[in-house]
Amino acid sequence: MKLLVLGSSAGGGFPQWNCNCRNCRGLREGSIRTRARTQSSVAVSNDSSNWVLINASPDILTQIGSIEQFTPNDGIRNSPIKAVILVDSQIDHTTGLLMLREGDRLPIYCTENVREDLIAGNPILRVLESYCGTDWNRIPIESSDGFTISGFDGLHFHAMAVDGKAPPYSPHRDAHLPGDNIALTITNQASGRSIFYAPGLARVDDRVAQWMSRADCILVDGTFWSEDEMTRQGAGRKSASEMGHLPQSGSDGMLTHLSRFQASRKILIHINNTNPLLDEDSAERRQVERMGIEVAFDGMEIEIR
Ligand code: MLT
Ligand code: MN
Ligand code: ZN
Repeated sequence: MKLLVLGSSAGGGFPQWNCNCRNCRGLREGSIRTRARTQSSVAVSNDSSNWVLINASPDILTQIGSIEQFTPNDGIRNSPIKAVILVDSQIDHTTGLLMLREGDRLPIYCTENVREDLIAGNPILRVLESYCGTDWNRIPIESSDGFTISGFDGLHFHAMAVDGKAPPYSPHRDAHLPGDNIALTITNQASGRSIFYAPGLARVDDRVAQWMSRADCILVDGTFWSEDEMTRQGAGRKSASEMGHLPQSGSDGMLTHLSRFQASRKILIHINNTNPLLDEDSAERRQVERMGIEVAFDGMEIEIR
């Protein structure tokens, strides 16, 4: 199975349109070694011709246009993207659905909580009923059986509810409920090898650690280096935990957790533009590289046999 990183940035992208932080300015001016990144999305396939999109970012058209595998290659109107999984109902993961309105009726896999947000607070699914229409497939979070997607023989999906944040337009914004955010485990059934994917993860509890410890590849929340990264730079009013993201640094940070797992690849993804490790010459970047941890970039390809 293959996983393609379409967008490795958090909401806002890198550089962000209104941001003058060290990274965004450095990228525009060419004064730091780094690369631009679009907003959070990946895709997975077992045959390299049919793809499940995981999260639909506002940058989806740019992403589709820059990846050869997504070229329409059959008939007058067609796409290799056959289904969409959503891990939450945040803007950076869902508004790209509107850009798929010219296509066929779209199979969407998400939890009940996410569907409710996309019908009420941010009614994308209601709007799409006037265009392509969507078919909702409920992602179960209470069973360890997981789910499959029609047309994707050989791939198995498992979702677990994780701590994170529902978007500001969700009734659960300040009272998180299981299913507002999920982590996905995607397994290549032929080999039993798996990828753990959680772009928004506020806490690594024992349950989460158990799934992470079994994965061959971990793609996990790389949003913030430190808890007060945004406020310290004057770039925002919220801390990492208030936004539902576990920072990398600190004794209980993501790096400490990652160091316990045996996965052959450990990759930070959903990276906010303020994160110092985006500067490839930074001490923070050297630290993660020394730990064998990679930093996702747009176009990164991961193969799990
Ligand atoms: C987040 O995950 O916190 C987001 O990237 C927020 C957003 O999309 O605005
Ligand atoms: Mn996000
Ligand atoms: Zn910035």
